[in-house]
Amino acid sequence: MINIAIDGPAGAGKSTIAKSLAHSLGYIYVDTGALYRAVGLNALRFGYDTKDEKLVTSTLSKIKVELKFINGVQKIYLNNEDVSEDIRTPQASMAASNVSAIASVREYLFDLQQNIADKNNCIMDGRDIGTVVLPNAQVKIFLTASVEERANRRYKELMEKNIEIDYNSVLEEMEQRDFQDSNREIAPLKPADDAIIVDTTNKSLPQVINDIKNIVEERV
Ligand code: DC
Repeated sequence: MINIAIDGPAGAGKSTIAKSLAHSLGYIYVDTGALYRAVGLNALRFGYDTKDEKLVTSTLSKIKVELKFINGVQKIYLNNEDVSEDIRTPQASMAASNVSAIASVREYLFDLQQNIADKNNCIMDGRDIGTVVLPNAQVKIFLTASVEERANRRYKELMEKNIEIDYNSVLEEMEQRDFQDSNREIAPLKPADDAIIVDTTNKSLPQVINDIKNIVEERV
């Protein structure tokens, strides 16, 4: 199976780029952040502190997290409920980052991700795909952009979804999340040694997609 790993900080354009590439290659696109978001949302619904290792771990034996691919589009199910929209709030973003630092959560989601990659040609995006989940991926891309540009993109996305928030809160949240994700002990956000680093600051989306397509074509 052909596996392509795309890692990078929040708002670097991973999902848009991975979706477009997956579409043109006929691969499935796997957004692994959605898994952490589902675990975080579940803990939030219990009213738990999402940094509390014991409490969050206690939720894992009682949940069912599933990815389903409907006409190539990924949907995420939490206990048989489609939570694909509910996981996109700023609260769910921070909860995802918090629970993702917990070892039991990463272990719980690890097999699920590897099983999908074993059975499908796929493009998987996340933080530790090239380093931990798919160390043998044929192509590894690390996408990045300045934090201001990433916050600006995320702000526009949230506005389009009518989620009320101001730009400065988006920027602050993004800085905090990047810091947590890059400095945690297990599987921190960082480029794999053999990843190609692509900086998307000041580049248009079609330009970046084209650059990455060229990289993929050279290798696959
Ligand atoms: O990609 P995203 O913004 O939806 O991810 C939400 C959080 O999940 C992110 O802040 C860190 C965590 N995450 C992770 O630790 N490992 C991954 N492979 C994907 C996401």
